Amino acid sequence: MFTSSPKVLVTGGTGYIGSHTVVALMEAGFDVYVVDNLSNSNIEVLNGIEQITGKRPVFENIDCTDYVAMDKFLTKHEGIKAVIHFAASKAVGESVELPLKYYRNNVVSLVTLLELMPIHKVENLVFSSSCTVYGQPDVLPVDEKAPIKKALSPYGNTKQICEEVIVDTVHANPAIKSILLRYFNPIGAHSSAAIGELPNGVPNNLVPFVAQTAAGLHKKIKVFGNDYNTPDGTCIRDYINVMDLAYAHVTAVERLLNKDIQEPEVYNLGTGKGLSVMELIKTFEVVNGVKVPYEIVGRREGDIEQVWANPSLAQKVLKWKAKATIEETLESAWKWQQRCMERK
Ligand code: UD1
Repeated sequence: MFTSSPKVLVTGGTGYIGSHTVVALMEAGFDVYVVDNLSNSNIEVLNGIEQITGKRPVFENIDCTDYVAMDKFLTKHEGIKAVIHFAASKAVGESVELPLKYYRNNVVSLVTLLELMPIHKVENLVFSSSCTVYGQPDVLPVDEKAPIKKALSPYGNTKQICEEVIVDTVHANPAIKSILLRYFNPIGAHSSAAIGELPNGVPNNLVPFVAQTAAGLHKKIKVFGNDYNTPDGTCIRDYINVMDLAYAHVTAVERLLNKDIQEPEVYNLGTGKGLSVMELIKTFEVVNGVKVPYEIVGRREGDIEQVWANPSLAQKVLKWKAKATIEETLESAWKWQQRCMERK
């Protein structure tokens, strides 16, 4: 146990998963520092965090690829014990159009951080990775031993490269410890609806689009393909509540601070259950008492047919398990959508 609250730096801490993790860390008693360049988030997120926790994390508007600015930040806030690195670009389609944006934002930011960590005696890193590294797995549910498949997009490639950069760096510098967290599909919002996923233009992801369609912002949602080899023909994913995901980061930081782990550890973060696109839309309608008009269209390029997690390693070692039901999670997504509409 600690006599004072350990300082944790969250890069990308005003983003979707980052902001929920900041809340979870603050509630667990950590002293939280946030850097974010607000390229895909809003400064008002800090108000939401304060509303929930009664405190405001230290925040600076910094681009994590900026070595000088990051160096200055770590000098000013000496004594940071762990970093959770979320700051990255994440739109699969955009990454195909603008690959260098993705290699710079995702890979250069990580390299910058890893160069600075030993200089500032920061020894612990939690990295935000993705189940995209598995591609279409040969065996379901997918566990951490499944082979890494060739990435289908520059975005996916950056996650694979970043994982390798961390493995090589820890190998060369055993003073650094790391946990890589592979997320399945994070959805929903904090139950207070004080924070959530801020839609940036037209959403690419399923749940924000479903919620906006229910709110009348789109006439219909396009269901990308119903001719997959799945029970109802639509793709299957493992949708995990974003607060459950946030709590997993707290357990990962605690493990790094308390255990002398040698090699980077990898954990799948999912519920262990797969849900099809149609099942998700129908559940959203039932729990929220709304209509979500849809139409079946052709497949979306690059989509994987089905993937869901075997999360038992995280359960065994991190003592973490996703707890929220899909109903609670989809209610939170709708509550957040309504809150966004009220603000307009
Ligand atoms: C994708 C990436 C994932 C990344 C995430 C971040 C892949 C395989 N997965 O997840 O690594 O972390 O984006 O944004 O690259 N759908 C519709 N209509 C829509 C939107 C989506 O039918 O309007 C369907 C998709 O075809 C898919 C499911 O809903 O079957 C989920 O899609 P989405 O929310 O975009 O997530 P992924 O593609 O699984």
